[in-house]
Amino acid sequence: MPIELYRDRNHACYMFTDLVDEDGQAVQANQFLIVDDDTGAVIDPGGNLAYNEVYMGMLKHFPPQKLSYVLASHADPDIIAALDRWLSSTKALLVISRVWERFVPHFTKAGKTENRVISVADAGGRLPLGRHEIWLIPAHFMHSEGNFQFYDPVSRILFSGDLGVSMTTGAQAARPVTDFKSHLPLMEGFHRRYMVSNKILRLWVSMVRRLDIAMIVPQHGAPLLGAKVISEFLDWIENLSCGIDLFDERAYQVPTATIDPVVRPSLPMLQTLRKPN
Ligand SMILES: [Fe+2]
Ligand SMILES: [Fe+2]
Repeated sequence: MPIELYRDRNHACYMFTDLVDEDGQAVQANQFLIVDDDTGAVIDPGGNLAYNEVYMGMLKHFPPQKLSYVLASHADPDIIAALDRWLSSTKALLVISRVWERFVPHFTKAGKTENRVISVADAGGRLPLGRHEIWLIPAHFMHSEGNFQFYDPVSRILFSGDLGVSMTTGAQAARPVTDFKSHLPLMEGFHRRYMVSNKILRLWVSMVRRLDIAMIVPQHGAPLLGAKVISEFLDWIENLSCGIDLFDERAYQVPTATIDPVVRPSLPMLQTLRKPN
C-alpha cells in the first residue's frame, strides 16, 4: 500500500516504500506517484521489482493512457530500469537530463524512445502537469552528472532523488524523520561516498533555501519532515566533505591484492557505505 504524502480535492502525492524485496540484495528504494485531476506522473519508478505495484497504484486514480510523464532524476537502474514497460503500457513522456537522453534507449527495445523523451537542459524548468506544474530543480553531481529533483508547489514536497537518502528498511522509510540527530548515522556514509563534492552541496543549499519546502522526500529511506528537520539537514549537508574532497592518491594505486572469485568479499550494504578512514 502506498503512503499518502499529500492530498487535496484534485491533487495527491503517493510514496511506495516496500516494493523491493528485503533480502539484502537490492537497496531499499522509494517510488512516487503524483496525481493531478485525471492525469499524473510517476517519479523514479524503478525497475521490474516495483513496476507492477506502482502501475496498479496508478490505475486507482486514472487510466494508463492519461499518465503524462515518467520523471527520472537520473539514469540509474533503481530509477528507470523498467522504462521499457512504462513506455509500452502508457503514452507517457520520459523527462530526463539531456546528459542521459542518448543513453536511455539502452533500457528499451529498439525505437521505443522515439518522440517519447523530454530532454532537459541543465537549467531545469517548470513543467505543466494537469492544472499545476512540477519544477525540475538542478541537482547535477548529486550524485549523477545530469540530475534533477522534482518540486511540487502544491504539496511543497521536494522529491530529492539520491540526496537526503538514508539506508533503512521499507517499514522505516514509511516513517518521516522528526529527530535529525538520531537519523544522521543512517545518512552519513552514503552522502560522504556518493555526493561528488562540498562545492556542489553548497551551491545546491543556497538555491533551495529560497524554496518553500514542507518535506524533503528522498528516493531511499525516510522523508525529512518540517522546517526544523529540513533546516538541520541543510546546515549539515552544506558543511559536509564528500566525494572528491576525501579522495587523494591513496585511492589511486595500481592494485596488488588478488580478488578470490570463490570466496567473494560480500560486505553488507551499510558497511560498504561507511565513512572512509
Ligand atoms: Fe543514483
Ligand atoms: Fe538511488
